[in-house]
Amino acid sequence: MSDKVTLNSLRAMKQAGEKIACLTAYDASFAAQLDKAGVDVLLVGDSLGMVLHGEDSTLTVSLSDMIYHSRHVRRGAKRSLVMADMPFMSYANTAQAMGNAARLLSEGGAQVVKMEGGAWLAETVRELVARGIPVCAHLGVLPQSIHKLGGYHVQGRNQRIAEEMKKDAVVLQEAGAAMLVLECVTRSVAKEITQRLEIPVIGIGAGSDCDGQVLVLYDVLGISGRQPKYSRNFLASHATVQAAIEDYVQSVKAGRFPALEHGFD
Ligand code: KIV
Repeated sequence: MSDKVTLNSLRAMKQAGEKIACLTAYDASFAAQLDKAGVDVLLVGDSLGMVLHGEDSTLTVSLSDMIYHSRHVRRGAKRSLVMADMPFMSYANTAQAMGNAARLLSEGGAQVVKMEGGAWLAETVRELVARGIPVCAHLGVLPQSIHKLGGYHVQGRNQRIAEEMKKDAVVLQEAGAAMLVLECVTRSVAKEITQRLEIPVIGIGAGSDCDGQVLVLYDVLGISGRQPKYSRNFLASHATVQAAIEDYVQSVKAGRFPALEHGFD
């Protein structure tokens, strides 16, 4: 477990059927604990707007916020790969995305940037990847589009939207995305996308068939003031944060988490 996690090793894990354990992280101390516990990918999620800043959505998070937190997470990460969210409206067009993603890598120390959206992002993904910026795509519930979606509703139940999501996943992989996050997607659609793609697919509320899982750290520690159906408070049955995170990692790797009750049909 001592080798540094890279995009190549994540792809090899998918091919070998080894589950990928990811968690959000926002500072150096937690990053170091998560790294030590064996978390493969630390996501500096824009969920920090909600769990750190107390906002009711992720829309208020700025690029400076993301750079600030990424820099500290990177300091705590020895083995884990650090991925950072591109915040709301920081990638509305390719030129803007290029400059902002470059700052997340050069100033924030991120190794991958994540962007929410479907096929409309393909051109941007292609251009970023061509210039050496790895991209993780994000489909399903898109928290930055909360006002358009009208709520955090499970995606994939509607046949037309499910088909569009499957097509978007392929288009984004072909554009060069190195990973895909699926958020609150029905088990069957997530399974089909995971089987169809060569890149690792990481689920949150997307069932157990994805190549890996990600959760919001503060939900896992029971301090976010919410307990989404797809998550679990791992600290409730442990005395230390370290033991709780090790349990999360081992549960993901062994296929014990997520269980049936954490997914959606
Ligand atoms: O911001 C975040 O924490 C995320 C996860 C929910 C995937 O994007």
